[in-house]
Amino acid sequence: MNNDILINKNNLLSENYIPKNLYQTDNNENNFHEYNNPNLKPLVKAEIMPYFLLLRENALKEGYNIIIDSGYRSYSYQKIIYDNMIKEKGIDAKSIVAYPGSSEHQSGLCFDVAYIRNGKFDGITKEKDKEILWLINNSYKYGFILRYPKGKENITQYNYEPWHYRFVGITLATLLNKYNLTLEEYYENKLKYEKILNEIPDYNFLLTSIIEVGFIILGYDYSNDEINNFIKYLQEKYPNIKIINSKFENIFVFKNDIKNINLDNLKLLTNEFLLTNIKEYKKLERKLHI
Ligand code: DAL
Ligand code: ZN
Repeated sequence: MNNDILINKNNLLSENYIPKNLYQTDNNENNFHEYNNPNLKPLVKAEIMPYFLLLRENALKEGYNIIIDSGYRSYSYQKIIYDNMIKEKGIDAKSIVAYPGSSEHQSGLCFDVAYIRNGKFDGITKEKDKEILWLINNSYKYGFILRYPKGKENITQYNYEPWHYRFVGITLATLLNKYNLTLEEYYENKLKYEKILNEIPDYNFLLTSIIEVGFIILGYDYSNDEINNFIKYLQEKYPNIKIINSKFENIFVFKNDIKNINLDNLKLLTNEFLLTNIKEYKKLERKLHI
């Protein structure tokens, strides 16, 4: 499954679809009602966790303690929620809960947020909440989009959901944010937008420094050998670079502990490395304009 997959009322997942690599998040002690199992915390696809952790760490620096509340939901669990909502609200339920097969929650690529405030779990997200405002302005930097925005209800066919965030990758999220697009609008004009996408460095594929946050994310298209070689290479050049998270398969997040590091130099180094070490350099060259 690609990160940009469109899942909505017209584009369904099969009843049997269960994502691979589901990861149990550990920053929410309150869940999980969804499985009637108090020991099971929210699940999301492991690939999106490094991005969420970066988002979380940077939100925390500004005092916002954002956690994942509802992540993956099975087809059968979505059916329970949907049926209950129909009983409660009738036809109105259709713009609140996706019917089974049409929910992004079945993909593991999205989550509903909650917060910790004054040490307490707060699961009632409101559109004016400072955490929500922070997410609206910043989530794209980490590859997430507000999936059901205000003013686009007729396009998404759902009410505004300030809490529902969907991972699409940093490149696409940057584009959607810049042009104020929903995934539906992107798909309607995919050819046009893909041309623009090629102008944006592909952060998911490319090793990139995210200058604002001082982290580097290595995309998961690399083989383990390539990644291990790269780690060695980087550590020789910058011995203080620390790997802070390598538990996700093929995804590594490094923390740059060097205060005065010149990130432009680091980018040059990584490009140099790619130039000499990675077969697919030609593809990268096109994307990077180098
Ligand atoms: N509330 C969203 C649309 C879902 O049920 O997936
Ligand atoms: Zn949701």
